[in-house]
Amino acid sequence: MSKILAVFGATGHQGSSVINYVLNDPELSKEFKLRAITRDVNSPKVKELKEKVEVVRGDVLDRASLETALTGVHTVFSMTVPPPTSDSYEAEYNMGKDIADISVEKGAKYIIFSTLPPAKKLSGGKYTKITPFDAKAAVEEYIRGLPIQSSFLSAGTFMENFLEQTYMGPKQDADGTWVFARQISPKAQLPLIDAVGDTGKFVGAMLAEPEKYEGRTVSAATRFYSMEEIYAAIGKSTGKKVAYKQVSVEEFKKELVGVPTMMADFFIDAFRCQEEFGYFGPNGEAEVKWAAENARGKLATFEDFLERHPITLG
Ligand SMILES: NC(=O)c1ccc[n+]([C@@H]2O[C@H](COP(=O)([O-])OP(=O)(O)OC[C@H]3O[C@@H](n4cnc5c(N)ncnc54)[C@H](OP(=O)(O)O)[C@@H]3O)[C@@H](O)[C@H]2O)c1
Repeated sequence: MSKILAVFGATGHQGSSVINYVLNDPELSKEFKLRAITRDVNSPKVKELKEKVEVVRGDVLDRASLETALTGVHTVFSMTVPPPTSDSYEAEYNMGKDIADISVEKGAKYIIFSTLPPAKKLSGGKYTKITPFDAKAAVEEYIRGLPIQSSFLSAGTFMENFLEQTYMGPKQDADGTWVFARQISPKAQLPLIDAVGDTGKFVGAMLAEPEKYEGRTVSAATRFYSMEEIYAAIGKSTGKKVAYKQVSVEEFKKELVGVPTMMADFFIDAFRCQEEFGYFGPNGEAEVKWAAENARGKLATFEDFLERHPITLG
């Protein structure tokens, strides 16, 4: 009998990738019966999903719904979304903790949690406002103490972020160049992952070989890209003149008009912390290499991604 794999965030980047990967993998699709968890089983975004997998209501903020959604589950892909509120650390921590606790209570055997590196710890306490990272890292620590097999997906920066220009979009110079302004050096390195295309390839490996991944944190990205490489690739793919410009923190703050305070603090500190201490910490390069080599499938380069998802400027 196939084991039930419950997937949180099934309508989002990471969860949808896990679902599509498992459905299309000849072995995993036999081993697992998918259960997509969503807050609204009647929303337009779950219409197609319902034709392919079981869709069950589960709201992380509604314990009773989680108890039902996690009944009979063998494996859980758990992820959390930070609320843009001042208590977002506690709120996100509690979301991750509740999913894990109820998974254990309901007899699940394996949890894969979408974590992030402990930014405050990695920076020796210098950066304290990177709460979406620190809250997830605290959930990871908590899960490690529970009586359940566990492994952790720590995703790099989503390539999809570069498609969204709601905040921090480029400005056009007098000579027509599209200028992207950030407060970090053009040489600063970010690990990039095609979240929708490739999350499932990392999680697929974790599902296929739970013993190999037991207790492991998978630094999931295709590779590190420098800021100047990222914007050069965008320039090439759009056929427009694109430039990356390092600006002061004060100037960068002006780019964040309209962004909720908690998210603005995050953007300001996260980039600087990642430049100074590495997104995944001191061993990030080797960890990303290992994760990429062990992923179940070929990973998209940023150039591949831009070919499939063209960016329009102007
Ligand atoms: N952007 C990046 O570069 C990056 C990098 C690494 C990690 N992350 C982390 O990735 C997370 C976002 O993941 P994503 O982009 O895959 O998600 P997403 O595309 O933003 O979608 C959010 C998902 O979360 C579900 N959800 C939201 N609130 C929920 C609740 N109360 N109960 C149950 N489900 C809920 C939604 O489901 P329904 O609407 O169907 O209920 C939806 O599927 C964030 O925590 C972020 O910190 C982002």
